This record gives sequence, structure tokens and C-alpha cells, in this order.
Amino acid sequence: MSALRDGALVIAIDGPAASGKGTLAKRLAAHFGLPHLDTGLLYRAVALALVDAGTDLGDERAAAEAAAALSAEGLADPRLRERAMGEAASRVSSVPQVRAALLSWQQRFAGGPEGAVLDGRDIGTVVCPGARVKLFITAAPEERARRRHRELVGRGETVSLDAILEDIRARDERDSSRAAAPLRAAPDAVQLDTTELDAEAAFAEALAIVTRLSGARR
Ligand code: C5P
Repeated sequence: MSALRDGALVIAIDGPAASGKGTLAKRLAAHFGLPHLDTGLLYRAVALALVDAGTDLGDERAAAEAAAALSAEGLADPRLRERAMGEAASRVSSVPQVRAALLSWQQRFAGGPEGAVLDGRDIGTVVCPGARVKLFITAAPEERARRRHRELVGRGETVSLDAILEDIRARDERDSSRAAAPLRAAPDAVQLDTTELDAEAAFAEALAIVTRLSGARR
């Protein structure tokens, strides 16, 4: 991709909800000293803007306007991490104008001098198709539900494991079947299944893959 500079290390990480991609992205970014963008936050922020304005999540024009008006400061709101916002983000993310507005945002971020680590659903396929390193992180839905449940309960939310598993299945279905930039591994992505791996083991595997693909010595 033309926006990516020679010599910059761009690491594109995709995968379904709660696959462990966010944790891996953060750790890889820290390891390589690169900026990190959790692109799910952008879609969550668009959804939150609609909720705060009392606008229906199905209002595509309002969603597109919220995406165009997005600011970096808005990404720090702790409400973005709530369960309901994941669901709401999944709805607004199917609107092509929302995706188009957020695309340039993400590509600008990826085009920095050093490179960047971005995680999401379409980083390797749409946002950074020219990235040197692409990872597609998966895990069994039951394991992803356990992880997300632990995380939400740890943050004080009251929710059952069954409800989370249902969310995850519904979100997988919606994210994979939408017409605009569906959740999909790029043909040149390396797949990593973290079902049987703890956070340390998953990071060690991911780091080995990145080092091999990028020739990075850091
Ligand atoms: O990753 P996270 O769970 O925060 O993403 C919330 C929702 O945002 C996803 O279910 C997906 O619908 C959408 N999303 C997307 N493309 C991305 C990142 C997130 O469509 N690159």
C-alpha cells in the first residue's frame, strides 16, 4: 500500500471477538516500540456517539457523520469497553460509509515513520493489505466466551457465561457475513489458534512469527 513507508514495520492483526488479538497486539507493540491502534475502539466510539445522542443505531447517516467527526480523545472513554458497546459497534460497522470514514483514520495511523500495530477484523485485507506481517488469531468460541466473561466480571459487569457465548456467536456471524469488509483472514496471513495457549505462550508464538516474517532483530 502506498501509504506504508519503506522500512516501517506494520503488523496487521485480525480475528474474531475475544480471540486474544488485542492482548497480543499490545504486547507486540511494546516489544517493538511501535504505536498500537485497537481499531474496534473506533467502531465502539461511533456507536457510543449515537447512544449518547439518543439516536437509533440503525440510522446510517448519523453513524457516518459520527465516524467522520471521530476524535482521538473520544477513544479513552471507559464505557467503550462495556459489553453493550461491542454489540452496538458490530451493528454500525456494517455501514459502508462508516467504514470508509474510519479507513483513512486507520491508514494515517499505520503510515507513521516507524510503522504500527493495528488489530481488528479487516486490517490485513482492507486497511493495510501491504503490511509485512499479518496474523489471524482464532480460538474456540467457548474459550473466547470464558475469556470475555472473566474480563467483564473483573470490570464489575454482571453477566452469565451463556449470554457471552451467545453474543460471541452472534457477533462472529454478523462480522463474517456482512458485505463490507467482512471478518476474513488475508491469504498471506499466518493463523494462530490460541485455544490451548495461555497469554505467555500465545505471545511467544506470535513473536516468533513476527520475527520470522519481518526479519526484525529487536
Ligand atoms: O474488537 P472489538 O470487539 O472491540 O470490535 C467491536 C466491533 O467492531 C466488532 O464486532 C466489529 O463488528 C467491528 N470492527 C470492525 N472492523 C474492525 C474492528 C472492529 O468491523 N477493524
